[in-house]
Amino acid sequence: MANNNIPISPISVAPMMNWTDRHERFFLRQISRNVKLYSEMITCGAILRGDKDRLLAFSSDENPLALQIGGIDKSELSECARIGEDYGYDEINLNVGCPSDRVQVGNFGACLMATPDLVASAVDVMASAVNIPVTVKHRIAINDQDEWSSLSRFVEVVSRAGCKHFIVHARKAMLDGLSAKENREIPPLRYELVYRLKDEFPDLSVTINGGITDLNSAEEHLCHVDGVMLGRAAYGDPYLLAEVDNRFYGEDKKYISRHEVLERFLPYVEKSVGEGVPLKSIGRHILGLFNGQPGARSWRRLLSEQLPKFNDNPTEALELLRSAADLVNYSDNLDIAAQ
Ligand SMILES: Cc1cc2nc3c(=O)[nH]c(=O)nc-3n(C[C@H](O)[C@H](O)[C@H](O)COP(=O)(O)O)c2cc1C
Repeated sequence: MANNNIPISPISVAPMMNWTDRHERFFLRQISRNVKLYSEMITCGAILRGDKDRLLAFSSDENPLALQIGGIDKSELSECARIGEDYGYDEINLNVGCPSDRVQVGNFGACLMATPDLVASAVDVMASAVNIPVTVKHRIAINDQDEWSSLSRFVEVVSRAGCKHFIVHARKAMLDGLSAKENREIPPLRYELVYRLKDEFPDLSVTINGGITDLNSAEEHLCHVDGVMLGRAAYGDPYLLAEVDNRFYGEDKKYISRHEVLERFLPYVEKSVGEGVPLKSIGRHILGLFNGQPGARSWRRLLSEQLPKFNDNPTEALELLRSAADLVNYSDNLDIAAQ
């Protein structure tokens, strides 16, 4: 039975398809040692019939790390949870929030908000298969469901099956008529329903997600819930996480500058490119590193132009990244403590 007594991470970075791959996660780990990371959603079909190492392998530096799974077949889900645990993930998370057409065709993702009993039986078999927590990331409701009654019923039913940590994207998903992107922007955010969830289910852990863009807001949310999950903000401006270890995990470490983050990341780049990973697969994730700094546009422009044509020589890869970083003004690159 899953051990659900592991403390909830106050800050986590959301699962994001094509974004939170292993390169991005390794990069973020250079900025914060403690923030909880999530994989992209990986479907059961891909895990069971695809190249497992390519999809699931990661560096142990990335822990604490959760594997997010998409699917609904119980035997496949329990098998995938077991595989994820064997690979060294710290948590298995079930996706009940993705509204995309492709996922709806497979009858999983957000459409499962309509069938909490089905989710509960899936969680039950997964929790029985592993010794790590099984969690669920979901919406507050879908389509014309009443928001509070569907949210509270969903959590009540699924928690009875062994899920003790719910990660709530605080919007409805509209499964007809809105694209996946629109479903992250148009339905209004209802943070108060997520707070109420924590009030009414105080023994469960609740992480709030959706539209949270800075650490001050995260701190305010943490007065009401156990955790805050950042998605697009952490991807677009990853240096946002530089304060997280001191502010939320009680560390007292020296802040590192953006340039130091890059220098820390370069040995990984050199090794990966040397092993045949295209530089653009790694470099695309670091375009936001200097966000807001003088010269950031030049850094981004040079990399956007050069990464696609790069010839994948490790030494030249480092030269390219360093010369792009030189375009960012050092004197303005103050660390957070000095700001
Ligand atoms: C490019 C992209 C891909 C995403 N892929 C996933 C996914 O694989 N699984 C998931 O649960 N949510 C996914 N999401 C949703 C995010 O996890 C998060 O719930 C959403 O972006 C709202 O949080 P934010 O406002 O902090 O970005 C994705 C979001 C984006 C922008």
